[in-house]
Amino acid sequence: MSNLSRRSVLSLGAALGLAGVASTAAPAWAWSSTGSVAGTGSGADPWQVWDDPVDGLVAGLLDNGQVPAVNAALAAWANNDDPVPGGLPAALATHLQQAATLPSWADRAKLRLAADFNRRKDTYLFMLYGLGSGIMSTVIPREAESVYWSAGGATMKDRAAKTFTFGYDLSELTAFEPTGQFVVTANKTRLVHAAVRHLLPQSTHWRAVTDTQIPISNGDILVTFHSLGTFVHRKLLEWKVPMTAAEEDAFLHMWQVAIHLLGVRDEFIPKTWADANAQSAYALTPILAPTTEGKELAQDLLGLSAQVDLGVTRGFLNEFVRYVLNDKIGDWLSLPRDYAAAALVRTGWPAYIAFREGLLPVIPVGFYMFDQFVRALAMLFLNNGTSPTSTTIVIPTANRPG
Ligand code: HEM
Repeated sequence: MSNLSRRSVLSLGAALGLAGVASTAAPAWAWSSTGSVAGTGSGADPWQVWDDPVDGLVAGLLDNGQVPAVNAALAAWANNDDPVPGGLPAALATHLQQAATLPSWADRAKLRLAADFNRRKDTYLFMLYGLGSGIMSTVIPREAESVYWSAGGATMKDRAAKTFTFGYDLSELTAFEPTGQFVVTANKTRLVHAAVRHLLPQSTHWRAVTDTQIPISNGDILVTFHSLGTFVHRKLLEWKVPMTAAEEDAFLHMWQVAIHLLGVRDEFIPKTWADANAQSAYALTPILAPTTEGKELAQDLLGLSAQVDLGVTRGFLNEFVRYVLNDKIGDWLSLPRDYAAAALVRTGWPAYIAFREGLLPVIPVGFYMFDQFVRALAMLFLNNGTSPTSTTIVIPTANRPG
């Protein structure tokens, strides 16, 4: 957007009372920390909280040209019980030794139950994270603009593969166990986010479109959590996928630990699903909006899924996305309509779930097509996308050039 920042255009639009001009500015924080895992709060506003000590540390590494050596040292660090690798700057090694551990409130039994739940419901989860949360991320303006203008935005295939690594490690049976990898993956991601906070403000492209000075605040991470965990939980309920109360609670607990490991303060992390839904209702829902960057990212992501044989047409894929999210988002992203496919999804998908869950005695029409579709998506996910050789999460040293 030439000389005008999107923010000034939005302010102008709002001043003129133009309908349909959505502000991407974050709403004031009005959520009480009594509903958090900490149970109490400092009164801080999570849109103004980043990851101070880690951000300063990583900014120093970038400024001193130490990041390539750090990436090389971190490459072999994979399992939760691997010691922090040697050869790292002392401050970083000290940080990782302290941060690559579960919080005191983590409940291993709940994490194991969540892992088992993930395994049993994996097909729905792949589908919801991939086609629901993944596409929703493109209509979260701050996220879409950050992802687009950071280095990885230029190679969506590779970036999507790395994001799958996070989801894959989180959904693994051993995710939080000593032999699992999630604690390490989350800590590497935390370092990547810290680097992005230092790098993106140096991008003239990003500065021209954003309404914020520094990306990826605690508030932004919470929004993304709601587009992932909270959204998926709500859809599973809506789709009547059988879950016990203990499983629902365990699934939330897994996400609570995950966002803690990403550097979100415990005073902002919702304690129950009711607390999470309340936070999501005003932190995520009202900020959803299309952006130029998001539209392009959505096309890239859908193009990526279409590269593997899902056994369905692109029209079906577009309609499935509309079904999982909604038509408003489908229209924002200009997903072409295919009304025959839409009708098939609307009737066939609930029947598919009901049959899989043993709630329908007769195999429904279209069962095998849906089955091939979910299996192909799961394979895409399990193969870490289509780029298995480049899925190591590395700290970036530059932004997208332009
Ligand atoms: C990088 C996950 C929140 C922007 C990453 C990576 C992962 C990840 C796994 C590493 C992938 C890579 O190296 O490309 C998550 C999760 C989040 C979250 C699980 C919340 C629950 C956010 C938010 C933003 C954001 C809120 C922006 C508002 C970025 C950017 C990169 C990144 C710009 C670097 C991309 C690159 O240049 O390669 N994130 N993220 N993330 N994330 Fe996040």
